Amino acid sequence: MPTVTEHYATHLGPIYVWMAGGSEAALQAGAAEIEALNLPFGHGAVVLDLGAGFGMHSIPLARRGVRVTAIDTSAELLRTLTELGANLPIQAVNDDLLAFQSHITEAPSAILCMGDTITHLPEIGAVESLVERASVELPPGGIFVVSFRDYSVPLIGDQRFIHVRSDDTRILTCFLEYEPEAVVVHDILHQRTPEGWQTRVSHYRKLRLSPEHLIASLRSSGFNVHREAGMKGMVRLVAQSV
Ligand SMILES: C[S@@+](CC[C@H](N)C(=O)[O-])C[C@H]1O[C@@H](n2cnc3c(N)ncnc32)[C@H](O)[C@@H]1O
Repeated sequence: MPTVTEHYATHLGPIYVWMAGGSEAALQAGAAEIEALNLPFGHGAVVLDLGAGFGMHSIPLARRGVRVTAIDTSAELLRTLTELGANLPIQAVNDDLLAFQSHITEAPSAILCMGDTITHLPEIGAVESLVERASVELPPGGIFVVSFRDYSVPLIGDQRFIHVRSDDTRILTCFLEYEPEAVVVHDILHQRTPEGWQTRVSHYRKLRLSPEHLIASLRSSGFNVHREAGMKGMVRLVAQSV
């Protein structure tokens, strides 16, 4: 099975911005989500964005004067982030998000892991390590925001086929195959070419992380946790270090 990094390098990376609705619409949606978070800091604060992608949250934050370290394993998405966020206070880092501590130079006011990134971790133990590391690095009052899809209750039958986006030149559909601890996501891409339609398929594994499990893990690491509705049906947990 392709690793997450391989799946993004060969399949999702080149179409990710299109999949997200185009850079302008996606950055507007990211700005709305940052606005909704009502974060209690502003200009000059330091924020880590783990699994930052093309900067859907990093760029709106940096436009408010926040200094962002954006970490991602996709070199292609970080290139896009750097282009879209030119002249903004963003440091783009190509690394595994679990290694975020080696990129901290100043105490962060917040750590973000948004847009279903956390489910890309290889196992539940990695989620727990991430929570523990975030609790070590955030000062009292610091905020850890995680938004993700709840795959704990399996979709069945035809519900497992999900239309993601289509236009005259592309159709992207997902098929979800459930395992006990994970869901295998098959991304099926049809693309119109001068020779006609071509189909490319790739798949990767995501964790079936339940919100209750993550909330319990955050609480036992010393966070106060607030659960709310995130974008596009995701769960958003806003955890404050005490
Ligand atoms: C679903 S996208 C979300 C991107 C962004 N946070 C957003 O909301 O648009 C997941 C991102 O996490 C990155 N990613 C997955 N696993 C990672 C890891 N272990 N370390 C760093 N980045 C990772 C992928 O390359 C991808 O850019």
